[in-house]
Amino acid sequence: MENFSFSVPTQLFFGRDVVKQHLVTALHHPKKVLLAYGGGSIRRNGLYDEVTALLEAAHIDYISFGGIEPNPRVETVEEAIAIARHECVDFVLAVGGGSVIDAAKLIAAGIYHEGHAWDIVLGKAVIQTAVPLGTILTLAATGSETNSGSVITNLATSEKKGWGSPLVLPKFALLDPQNTFTVPHNHTLYGIIDIMSHLFEQYFRQNPLTVQNPYQEALIETTLRQVIATAPDLLANLNDYHARETMMICGTYALNGVLRIGSNGDWASHQIEHALSAVYDIPHGAGLAIVFPHWMHYVLTKDPETTAPLLAKMATQVFAIQPLADDIATAHAGITALSDFWRQLGAPTKLRDLQLTSTDILTDLTTKTLLGQPSVGHFLPLTAADLHQIFASLE
Ligand code: NZQ
Ligand code: ZN
Repeated sequence: MENFSFSVPTQLFFGRDVVKQHLVTALHHPKKVLLAYGGGSIRRNGLYDEVTALLEAAHIDYISFGGIEPNPRVETVEEAIAIARHECVDFVLAVGGGSVIDAAKLIAAGIYHEGHAWDIVLGKAVIQTAVPLGTILTLAATGSETNSGSVITNLATSEKKGWGSPLVLPKFALLDPQNTFTVPHNHTLYGIIDIMSHLFEQYFRQNPLTVQNPYQEALIETTLRQVIATAPDLLANLNDYHARETMMICGTYALNGVLRIGSNGDWASHQIEHALSAVYDIPHGAGLAIVFPHWMHYVLTKDPETTAPLLAKMATQVFAIQPLADDIATAHAGITALSDFWRQLGAPTKLRDLQLTSTDILTDLTTKTLLGQPSVGHFLPLTAADLHQIFASLE
């Protein structure tokens, strides 16, 4: 392992009715809360009424800000910041999926920031302070509920970029699997794919041949097996509490930092997907379903010496494939098993499944993936030429 330091200071409340039991005490007497939410799912399923009733009963002043989009826009965040400043908000409560939570992090940081919020995302402005924030998660997917990351889209430049700061780590996360019952089939599936992708991003890491990290590998393998075992049951019965519960805890642990310790993960597939989402505004998990198997195939073909051993280990440990003649053959079987699993669950496998194309905008997609860097990824760094080939293969 590489040396590391690790801390997850977010207070996690997990299980049935935790919102009712813990929201008010977790808030610690704010003067005014900004209740941030998305396109209306929490209004339709009753969670909005539940949360506002709890705030009102505790005489906690709040103002609501709805309409945060999937792939949240910086323009919407700026709007919320203006309202939050005007209303002297001193706590941001995000109730929603990753998009709402990511937007809430930039709102919390932007309230004290004089310039454009996009400068924070670009890293041109480094925040010194932020309004505290808490999360009530409604969709198991991103892990944003207990991490310091946030991914924001700029419509004007059609860019989508991640940023992060320990200052926007949620103070608390209230995770009740019942609040995910109404997530429809497609977004439940995209969430599952995102969770698995976060596990893969950290499994396929920098210097896998020289830096041993067997404990981290074992944790990731077991989490992947758990997600794979649970996904079909969950998608067959969206109200299955135990399946929702398992997926929710796997989603949180997949990206709360614990699986990253001692290794630098790859993350090229996420950057490739963010470019696709920036241009086509597709759900993150749908993009990952198309990108990840193609990325695996590309890195295996380009540099089997570096990549085949760990891809083959994934095949045997995660998909229970018997070792074949060599690591390369086993690795290919593992990639096929992953593609088949996602396809059988109903995920897209090519851009054409979403009525999209990449051929006429290969350069644009590549630029939006690299975002000024010479390469992306750490398992096998990829340059513009590599990215062109990967985007072409997604057609
Ligand atoms: O907007 P509402 O009406 O709430 O509907 C949402 C949205 O349409 C719906 N939904 C959420 N909870 C629901 C529900 N519908 C019914 N019942 C519920 N309980 O689901 C749709 C998708 O929601 P969204 O928040 O966009 O999904 P997700 O949680 O997958 O978040 C995706 C965003 O997070 C970023 C992605 O790039 C994307 O922008 N990511 C953030 C990360 C992080 N902060 O660490 C890491 C990830 O890799 C990812 O990049
Ligand atoms: Zn993701």
